[in-house]
Amino acid sequence: MKKFGMISVTALIASAAGAWAGELSVVCSAEQDWCDLMVSAFEEQNPDTDVLMVRKSTGETLAQIRAEAGNPKIDIWWGGTGDPHLIAAEEGLTQASGVDTGDLLGWAQNMAEISGGKTVGIYAGALGIAYNSDILEKKGIAAPQCWADLEDPRFEGEIQVANPNSSGTAYTELATFVQLFGEDEAMVKLAAVGKNVNSYTKSGSAPSKAAARGETGVSIGFMHDMVKLASQGFPLKIVAPCEGTGYEVGAVSIIEGARNPEGARKWVEFALSADVQSRAPEVGSFQVPSNSNAQVAPESPDLAAIKLIDYDFATYGSSETRERLLARWDAEVGDPNPQQ
Ligand code: G6P
Repeated sequence: MKKFGMISVTALIASAAGAWAGELSVVCSAEQDWCDLMVSAFEEQNPDTDVLMVRKSTGETLAQIRAEAGNPKIDIWWGGTGDPHLIAAEEGLTQASGVDTGDLLGWAQNMAEISGGKTVGIYAGALGIAYNSDILEKKGIAAPQCWADLEDPRFEGEIQVANPNSSGTAYTELATFVQLFGEDEAMVKLAAVGKNVNSYTKSGSAPSKAAARGETGVSIGFMHDMVKLASQGFPLKIVAPCEGTGYEVGAVSIIEGARNPEGARKWVEFALSADVQSRAPEVGSFQVPSNSNAQVAPESPDLAAIKLIDYDFATYGSSETRERLLARWDAEVGDPNPQQ
């Protein structure tokens, strides 16, 4: 945030009224260092705007936007998995940006089509399993190859994954299991994996960070987060599960009733531009960018080489489906020690 030596009376009055056009309030649901890079790059291009940014997981952000409906404190929601962005659109909590999406890849435009232009894709990334090779070797545990392996008692107390109520990553996992195995079987399998889980974290990337540091043997999360940690030298090996896997389309949305709609529209344009998307690898963010002219980092997991399911965003990004699946997860899988 830039500092001003003097603030004009007009600005003070406008700010007191909560309507100072020079401020843009952003919730960022991607990794903190990428959020910070986006803020500084935006402020550089728009020196009259101060961006106030907080990092929050995707499910938590949806809960905040719901709670603030009618009196929103946020202008922009950037990053995080697409399903909760689609749900916010369905619930009338976000608004169409009108920004040109012509340069975007099909999976990014698909989000705009489903939501009537109220959200749009900024990146994509596949879900996977990571393991700390030092830990598994030391304990004599054979590495996992498939989702089904994670049900095996050899992984007792060794698996970490996020809670799907707060984390978009973990909701993607829940929806992926349902699409791979059917709803009833998915709950049985997630409960079986749950017997081996040592902790359900709030944020989706926390389990892989814990696996990198050797605090847990195995994590479930997005492969690009695992690649970032492996490229930093941690002994993390990445597995594309043998049954196939799901993926996210990260998204950006303008909140309905945003106090700075003009700044918000500028942010969406900025976030969809090839130049800005090409900068993500500077901070180790290796998602596949949505702009067809953006550079794909060589480290980015090649989605064409992974057995991906045909993830049904319209269904799993609907309010009714998410509420039902989360209620079943709470009842049939459940977190014995929910984090506050
Ligand atoms: C990480 C990933 C993003 C993803 C986000 C979801 O930051 O790099 O690609 O969208 O997690 O966060 P959450 O905490 O909601 O799982």
